[in-house]
Amino acid sequence: MIIAGSETIAWTLEWAMLNVLNHPELLKKARTEIDTKIGFDRLMDEADTKNLPYLQWIVLETLRLHPAAPTNVPHSTSEDCMLAGYDVPRGSMLLVNIWSMHRDPSIWEDPEMFKPERFKNEKLNQKLLSFGMGRRACPGYGLAHRVVSLALGSMIQCFEWQRIGQEYVDNSEDKTVVLMRPTTPLLAMCKARPIVHEILDAFA
Ligand code: HEM
Repeated sequence: MIIAGSETIAWTLEWAMLNVLNHPELLKKARTEIDTKIGFDRLMDEADTKNLPYLQWIVLETLRLHPAAPTNVPHSTSEDCMLAGYDVPRGSMLLVNIWSMHRDPSIWEDPEMFKPERFKNEKLNQKLLSFGMGRRACPGYGLAHRVVSLALGSMIQCFEWQRIGQEYVDNSEDKTVVLMRPTTPLLAMCKARPIVHEILDAFA
């Protein structure tokens, strides 16, 4: 539960930040959406996330390009069966390559690009396998979705974010671990937005 529930969320959040830092225009759209829908005198709350479609699309696009468990959790066949035309004997280990399915050009236009807008087409949600599928699918799906959306949204609402230099942030994947994290831990510059001072002043 600790590994399944913490690193997955932390790394998904890191991938999301990394992508919006490399695409400041997307970060701006998400910030404008939050400012318009929530205003400047309160922090966003979990209930707000469903009214922030652009933020949701960023989360979905992050889960597509960077599924925390790229080859899913290994499963074992309990009986001899046939899968995609192949005979699979009982007891075989089965890995599902979610990473590659999420970059299948027959489903995803410009699959290598980070394009949150693609999720305007709601049918694409059903093609996402980041949390597995069926009886053994991730039981933390709902929690993960809410936590990532709220954390990302709050970071965007409260801070101005920038890359630490002109160069793009390294978005290569660390292939030495089972869960997928960026090779280089993300470093970014941030500056508190006025809303943070207002809220802190209210407590002073
Ligand atoms: C972005 C966050 C997360 C991602 C991408 C993710 C992804 C996955 C995937 C792909 C599986 C395997 C599903 C399958 O075998 O078909 C899984 C299983 C699991 N996840 Fe998550 N997960 C996330 C967050 C969480 C959280 C927050 C929790 C709990 C608090 C959690 C608990 C579990 C557990 C207990 C399993 C094993 C379920 C079983 O084998 O029956 N996960 N997760």
